[in-house]
Amino acid sequence: MNSAKKLYQSLNIAGSLALAVFIPWIVFKVFRAVRLQKNLNELVGKIVVITGASSGLGKALAHEFYKHRCQVVLCARRRQELERVRSDLLNTHCTVETAQPPIIIPIDLSELDSLPEQVKKILSITGHIDILVNNGGVSHRGTVISTTLDVDMKIMMVNYFGAAALTKAVLSDMIKRKQGHIVFVSSIQGLIALPERSAYSASKHAMQAFADSLRAEASLHNISVTVASPGYIKTNLSINALTGSGASYGQMDATTEKGYKPEYVAEQIIKAVVEKKNEIVISTIIPKLAVFLRKYWPNIYFILMNQRAKKSLASY
Ligand SMILES: NC(=O)c1ccc[n+]([C@@H]2O[C@H](COP(=O)([O-])OP(=O)(O)OC[C@H]3O[C@@H](n4cnc5c(N)ncnc54)[C@H](OP(=O)(O)O)[C@@H]3O)[C@@H](O)[C@H]2O)c1
Ligand SMILES: *[C@@H]1O[C@H](CO)[C@@H](O)[C@H](O)[C@H]1NC(C)=O
Ligand SMILES: *[C@@H]1O[C@H](CO)[C@@H](O)[C@H](O)[C@H]1NC(C)=O
Repeated sequence: MNSAKKLYQSLNIAGSLALAVFIPWIVFKVFRAVRLQKNLNELVGKIVVITGASSGLGKALAHEFYKHRCQVVLCARRRQELERVRSDLLNTHCTVETAQPPIIIPIDLSELDSLPEQVKKILSITGHIDILVNNGGVSHRGTVISTTLDVDMKIMMVNYFGAAALTKAVLSDMIKRKQGHIVFVSSIQGLIALPERSAYSASKHAMQAFADSLRAEASLHNISVTVASPGYIKTNLSINALTGSGASYGQMDATTEKGYKPEYVAEQIIKAVVEKKNEIVISTIIPKLAVFLRKYWPNIYFILMNQRAKKSLASY
């Protein structure tokens, strides 16, 4: 009898405690959801320039921003693919009352000298740019020894210098308007390097550092900088990756195949943008653990990477 009473009492206490945690948690969740919705509503009419919009994550980002009634400016090399994305946008979201239809500006990020001119062209059409999403990029498959310096430079040119040049070109107008947002699509490989990805990892590490430096400077002008570092996404990135000789790798890697859906990653990025997050890592636990190890227990990370190299290079 006595023990039953005790049990009842302790259950009661446990229940109250659970409620005391649960109710604020629910309130917090609701508050967050309401705030997110309010922030997303502020996207209406914003002018968003997206590079690499012809495929994969860039295409998914175009859908996500367009869905929230932004005017999107689609940039990449392949005009035909951009046109396909534009008609997809118009057909898929025909219920969306966007003020302005998507704009297509074909650009080659490796032609650095052409980029300021392209930005001028965009500005002459839209008047200003609210958000620049540096997403266009190319990956790499090959050892350091088998990769020509030409390939290193090509990847650096698109992933790093292309983004840097475009950012410089949009910055002065943003500074004048005292607002703007620059987004960098980096990668987990901007935080840690894997064997056989030297050029790619280096270009994304460079991007992260550039963004961190810019963030501090831009804060003086009310301009935000967000760096997104996703893990594997199911896109054509590995197919389009360059090998050591500069040829197309042409294969869908198993890791890429099993990666996140581009739509999911795009949604996470757009949330980070409206919440003005400085950075966001979008990945499963293992890559996050690797980032942690690299920072706080580097020798373990190096051993793991040696093993990874041994395993994959044994097949050569
Ligand atoms: N997939 C992943 O696992 C993964 C993981 C982390 C980060 N990321 C990053 O996500 C971004 C998008 O890649 P994705 O996965 O969507 O791969 P993707 O399907 O191959 O898309 C790459 C995009 O970049 C554009 N691009 C490539 N070279 C260009 C150049 N010289 N000038 C202009 N645009 C160029 C391509 O368009 P054109 O060919 O028409 O020019 C294409 O739209 C990249 O920055 C990538 O590093 C991807
Ligand atoms: C990959 O490339 C093919 C051929 O260009 C294209 O049909 C497909 O839509 C691309 N995939 C993604 C996710 O963009
Ligand atoms: C800073 O930028 C935000 C939009 O990102 C804008 O609403 C606000 O008015 C800007 N503040 C100033 C002081 O210009």
